[in-house]
Amino acid sequence: MVEFPPLRNDLLLRAARGEKTERAPVWIMRQAGRYLPEFRALRANHEFFEICRTPELATEITLQPIRRYSGLIDASIIFSDILVIPQAMGMEVLMNPGPSFPDPLNTPDDVSKLNQTVDVDKELGYVFQAITQTRIGLDGEVPLIGFCGAPWTLFAYMIEGGGSKTFTKAKMWLFKYPEESKALLLRIADVCVDFLVGQVKAGAQLLQIFDSWAGELSPHDFSLFSLPTLKHISSRVRARLSTQNIPQVPLTLFAKGANYALDELAKDSGYDVLGLDWCIDPSVAREIVQGKVALQGNMDPNVLYGGREAIESAVKRMCDEFKKGNNGEVGAWIANLGHGITPGVDPEDVRWFFECVHKYSARAKA
Ligand code: CP3
Repeated sequence: MVEFPPLRNDLLLRAARGEKTERAPVWIMRQAGRYLPEFRALRANHEFFEICRTPELATEITLQPIRRYSGLIDASIIFSDILVIPQAMGMEVLMNPGPSFPDPLNTPDDVSKLNQTVDVDKELGYVFQAITQTRIGLDGEVPLIGFCGAPWTLFAYMIEGGGSKTFTKAKMWLFKYPEESKALLLRIADVCVDFLVGQVKAGAQLLQIFDSWAGELSPHDFSLFSLPTLKHISSRVRARLSTQNIPQVPLTLFAKGANYALDELAKDSGYDVLGLDWCIDPSVAREIVQGKVALQGNMDPNVLYGGREAIESAVKRMCDEFKKGNNGEVGAWIANLGHGITPGVDPEDVRWFFECVHKYSARAKA
């Protein structure tokens, strides 16, 4: 492994390991994205997946929010997309402007069109290179997060061929071909494991798994189809890191909309941090997880359109919720939005969000 410059801000890693911190570390899902004029300027000359595949460009974009919000932001996340795994498995994915798959999986027979084996170093080595270059570029300012999509969310994209409101095709697979669905979900999970371990070797200091469509499943179907693959990923990643003598990194699971499963996820899914969307009060989530995991989230991203006062009162409320029953401390919590930031937000309002988190999450002075 490459030697990297020493880390100067470890708030994120401490909170992720369950430690109380002097204030909540903060970052934003999709923080390198279209709300930033510097992102749009670079994006005007490059296709989305071209940026993902060019380590210099991915590094530059990952660093944009870190430079702009230096001193206010506590983590970077590698610029890439969850859909690089379906690409590595042999599927074509376009971004125009949302993701679309010209040739989705219609029936289990189509699974034979996928690559039999996936060599992540060959197919996704560009992500590993981007991670290593970004770690060097960060010069220890903040930690770097690696990520991948969760099997159920990727399965849904691969079958629907893009976003969906009803998930009819993906769910048809679950209910009509349950065994074939489980086999494909596990196959995706194995690629996730290889990809995540490779990201840690390349320099990722925390890993986040995005199960963006978890909330589309009933609790029963989540336990049957998604949870086993999420456990498979956490246990295999940890085992592989340990047999290869690579230091462990914290694992975060963001299962959007799966607040119904918080109890089960906190008990034994193998994740250190659970991401919350805005549909649950932090104090309720804390009560459910009983200190077994750290929490991340959860302001509604649309509050960022509400102006300074609305942002300040929502952040204050969120911090007060995390402090409830906690001696005036926010505890092991990573401040974030409850989902990704959207393109129309004013970057100065994002700065204000960060400033408010610093102010209201700070431990009360004795
Ligand atoms: O968070 C970050 O800054 C890191 C980069 C990142 C992107 N996508 C960049 C991106 C991450 C972590 C993702 C994850 C991702 N991608 C998810 C999981 C999180 C979530 O939002 O639920 C999902 C579902 C995708 C798939 C995807 N990629 C969609 C649905 C879209 C289009 C809609 C949208 O929100 O923009 C993308 C494109 C995408 N991924 C963009 C960015 C910056 C915008 C594309 C552009 O520049 O045109």
